[in-house]
Amino acid sequence: MNLKIAVLPGDGIGPEVTLQAKKALYAIGVVYDHEFVFEDALMGAVAIDKTGNPLPEQTLNLCLNTDAVLFGAIGDPKYDNNPDAKVRPEQGLLKLRKELGLFANIRPIKPYKSLLDSSPLKREIIEGADFTIFRELTGGVYFGEKKLNDAGTIASDLCEYSEEEITRITHLAFKAAQNRRKKVTMVDKANVLETSRLWRKVVKNVSESYPDVALDFLFVDNAAMQIILNPKQFDVILTENLFGDILSDEASVITGSIGLLASASLGNKKALFEPIHGSYPQAKGKNIANPIASVLSAAMLLEHFGLHKEAKKVYEAVEKAIEYNVVTIDLKADSKFGTNEVGDFISNVILSKDDLYFK
Ligand code: IPM
Ligand code: MN
Repeated sequence: MNLKIAVLPGDGIGPEVTLQAKKALYAIGVVYDHEFVFEDALMGAVAIDKTGNPLPEQTLNLCLNTDAVLFGAIGDPKYDNNPDAKVRPEQGLLKLRKELGLFANIRPIKPYKSLLDSSPLKREIIEGADFTIFRELTGGVYFGEKKLNDAGTIASDLCEYSEEEITRITHLAFKAAQNRRKKVTMVDKANVLETSRLWRKVVKNVSESYPDVALDFLFVDNAAMQIILNPKQFDVILTENLFGDILSDEASVITGSIGLLASASLGNKKALFEPIHGSYPQAKGKNIANPIASVLSAAMLLEHFGLHKEAKKVYEAVEKAIEYNVVTIDLKADSKFGTNEVGDFISNVILSKDDLYFK
C-alpha cells in the first residue's frame, strides 16, 4: 500500500516522539512492503514563531491532500501563562480538527499485564479493565462563541450541540460496541445542561437501531469517580468534547502513564492520529519522553487503513518493550532507556521478523 502521511511534530516533546512513530512505520513498510511517504509540516507554537500562524495555510493544505496525519503534541508555557495572548498554539489543533471534519476522537484504555503495579490504583481494580472513550471533537464549548466584555471582567464560552453532531458520533460508538462487549455508557450532565439533555434524547433514539447494544447513562461527576473506582464496568464511553478531554486524562491513570495512550481522530473523509498527552515542555530535548503513545497512534493509523497484521506487529513490539522493561522513566524510575532507545527497540523488533532479538 502507498500512503502519504503528513507529520506535524508540533511543540515540546512532539518532535522526539513522532520520530519514533515514523521509525516504527518505516520498519513496517520495509517488512510488509508498503510505501509510506512522510512530509513534515509546522503546527503549534513552533508555527507561530516561524509564521505568526499556529496552523499555516501550507500545513492545512498538506493535511487536506494526504491520506492521514500523524500529530505529536501542542502547547508552550509562554502561552499558558499569558491569558492575554491573542494567538495560541492550541488554536492550530482545534482549527485543524474542524477543517478536516474530525468529529470523533477514539481513546482506548487498557492496562498492560506487566504494568498492573505501575498504576497507583490497586491491581484488583484495574486488572481486566478495557474500554474506549468516544469523545466528540468538533463541537461543544471548545467551539462555541467566546466573549469577554470591554472591561475584561466577564467572560463566556457557549456550549452548543446539534442533533446532527450528536448523531454521527453516536453511530460510531454503537458500531464499535457491537464489536466489543456491547455496552455504551453515555456520560453527560443532563441534570443541569440543556446540551446534555439533547445528547440523551438523540443517543436514546440512535440506540434503537442497535438492539444488541445496552445503553446506560452516567452524570460526569459520577463517571469521574466510577472510572477509578470500578473501571471494569465500562465498554464504550460516549461523551461530549470537554468531558471526554478530562475523563481520558483521568483514565490514563489506569494504565500507569499517560505516555501510553494513543488516539484516532476520525471524520467522514480524513483521519488524524495523536497521543492524548500534551507537549510536556519540561522534558523537551532530554530524551526522556515516552514515545509509546505516539507509536501506538501509528498503529491506529495502520488499523484505520485495514493493515491489521501490521498494526498487530506494532502492538506486539510495544508489548515486548514493556515486558523487557525497555521503557522510559515514567514507567521505571531508574530506567537507562530514553525516547530514542525505546523507539529503536520497537522498530528493531518489527524488523527482526523471527524474533532474533530474544534467541
Ligand atoms: C487533547 C488536548 C487538546 C484538547 C488541547 C491541546 C487543545 O488536551 O487532545 O486532549 O483539549 O483537545
Ligand atoms: Mn487533553
